[in-house]
Amino acid sequence: MVPPPPQEPHPSGDERFALLDKSLRKARYRQDQLIEVLHAAQEVFGYLADDVLLYVAQALRLPRSRVYGVATFYHLFTREPMGEHICSVCTGTACFVKGADAIVDAMVSEYGIQPGETTEDGTLTLTTTRCIGSCSLAPVTVVDDDVRGHLTAEEALQMVVDRLAAAQDAASEQPVEVS
Ligand code: FES
Repeated sequence: MVPPPPQEPHPSGDERFALLDKSLRKARYRQDQLIEVLHAAQEVFGYLADDVLLYVAQALRLPRSRVYGVATFYHLFTREPMGEHICSVCTGTACFVKGADAIVDAMVSEYGIQPGETTEDGTLTLTTTRCIGSCSLAPVTVVDDDVRGHLTAEEALQMVVDRLAAAQDAASEQPVEVS
């Protein structure tokens, strides 16, 4: 397919759209590259907001409904901004059987957010995920880059508490700039 002429720069002036343009060019504006392009967009923006989806739809000359459909169907795409830390509880079959629902319940009751939501202060996003391929460790919870298994609900909760506390400590140890 011949690539379409370059799009007008995004009216917001947000330079991240230039990065997205690069990915679109790399994908040669091919409609069958929609998932790869959405991946790239999520990496650049952190999540897939309406204007990003619209931009992708126009660039690939796809109906908006198709792009929205893909962005909302796949678990790996998020339509909301994520928190600074992400707690992802595996709710695949093996983990579910071993008590993943109790872990989710513990997070919900401690932080007052449902899976897919972020705390008001933006520090934590709770998500659930399908099997991550570590069923022998079930139930598995991932906090940022830390993957742990065989956790009770209390241990999983502690994992999050510790991670947030460590981040707060690190932030408070940053030298204060004196002007
Ligand atoms: S079901 Fe959770 S890792 Fe496989």
